[in-house]
Amino acid sequence: MAQRETWATRTGFILAAVGSAVGLGNIWRFPFVTGEGGGAAFLLVYLLFVALIGFPAILAEFVVGRRTDRNPVGALKAYGGGAWKYVGGIFIATGFIILSYYSVIGGWFIRYAIEGFRGDYASHIAAYEGDPEIMFGALSTGLDAFILHTVFMAITVGIVALGIRQGIELAVKVMVPAIILLLVGLAIWAFTLPESGGGYEYYLSPDFSVIAANWAELLPAAAGQAFFTLSLGMGVMITYASYLGEDRNLTRDGITIIGFDTGIAFLTGLVVFPIMWAGALTEPGSGGPGEIFVAMTQAFADVSGGQFLGLIFFATVAIAAISSAISLLEVVTSYAIDEIGIERWKAAIGMGGVIYLLGVPVTYDLIFLDLLDYFADAILLVFGALMLTILVGWIAPQAAVDELEKGIGNLGTLGQVWIWALRIPIVIVLIISLYLGVVEYVDFLTGDFAGWLDENL
Ligand code: TRP
Repeated sequence: MAQRETWATRTGFILAAVGSAVGLGNIWRFPFVTGEGGGAAFLLVYLLFVALIGFPAILAEFVVGRRTDRNPVGALKAYGGGAWKYVGGIFIATGFIILSYYSVIGGWFIRYAIEGFRGDYASHIAAYEGDPEIMFGALSTGLDAFILHTVFMAITVGIVALGIRQGIELAVKVMVPAIILLLVGLAIWAFTLPESGGGYEYYLSPDFSVIAANWAELLPAAAGQAFFTLSLGMGVMITYASYLGEDRNLTRDGITIIGFDTGIAFLTGLVVFPIMWAGALTEPGSGGPGEIFVAMTQAFADVSGGQFLGLIFFATVAIAAISSAISLLEVVTSYAIDEIGIERWKAAIGMGGVIYLLGVPVTYDLIFLDLLDYFADAILLVFGALMLTILVGWIAPQAAVDELEKGIGNLGTLGQVWIWALRIPIVIVLIISLYLGVVEYVDFLTGDFAGWLDENL
């Protein structure tokens, strides 16, 4: 058997994990969840969740991956024993599902960046009856969306096919610094815009009354966001850690990765809100996949320099989406390499091809986006995180502590604190989140989705 690949450098591993973590979740979801959740007050709750749940959970994935040197299916089987391979199978399936629609959304960002090349956003909007929502409707489904879904997937497959060092590591060494530089540049630009103060105020002024009134919804939302943004719950961090040598301090790597992810999410808010306030918008709407496109396109049409600003903004998000998509495809590809025994490039193309086909219905009607996204986000990822927590916290805690201590030294009671955090509080939060997720999904299936089927069949 060929030697298993490894990262060339520690930085390569960290950048790949940061590249996975930083994606549509940070740039689209985070600022808006924060704005709606009471600004700085929500930010505090979210940071607490990231530190108290995200950090122990990312370490759990790291130790399982580095100890077993396997893809999630092989890793869970080796770590937990026989039946755990089925849980690993669910992880692979989750990768299929998330990447299928993630690619379509990533394609929209490429498309909106191209619009910036082709002319200013005001004239684009004018071509769609002056309504950015009609523009989004036209570009988000149909032939345009299909073509850009194809482009996005082809780039992702290309990078993964080239392998860990020549593909993923090289790509993220360019992409992650580019994302940070571009966002810092955009944030500075946004600061100089008129009315930016209103945007900062909406984003950052703490309003504890919102939390007091809505905590039952905000807490699971903050937990879900913490998992999604750190790419937890389906084995991305297991897979990436499986390419590590034994000598690394995983705790320090975890802190670095979480720090970058959170910093970049925060930075994005400093870009999005001042720009929106400089445009005519002063109140983000109800959300939905099109909102960032509608709101930002309108803003870019209104502000001076908006064409260039918009081009950079949409391109930055597209890059961030690609660096996340490669982690999703790598999970599935590593499974095919390890367990089926096919070559990397064949695995990447074959698996990428199937995922691509799964995403095509989304380009036909956005109801399929909700169908896949709710299921993956609210159910599969939370379920996966719960299983990992049980595995590491209850089934094989000693192996986990031993593995974490490699490269660090004796952890003493800290190791026990980690295990007990996983065992009780995190398991409880995950069970509650899973319950709420299932309720929400059933609601969607019997409501919106049933309605859509009635109308269309
Ligand atoms: N973390 C990415 C984001 O914020 C999305 C992502 C990539 C992801 N890989 C994942 C989410 C694995 C959950 C699981 O957009």
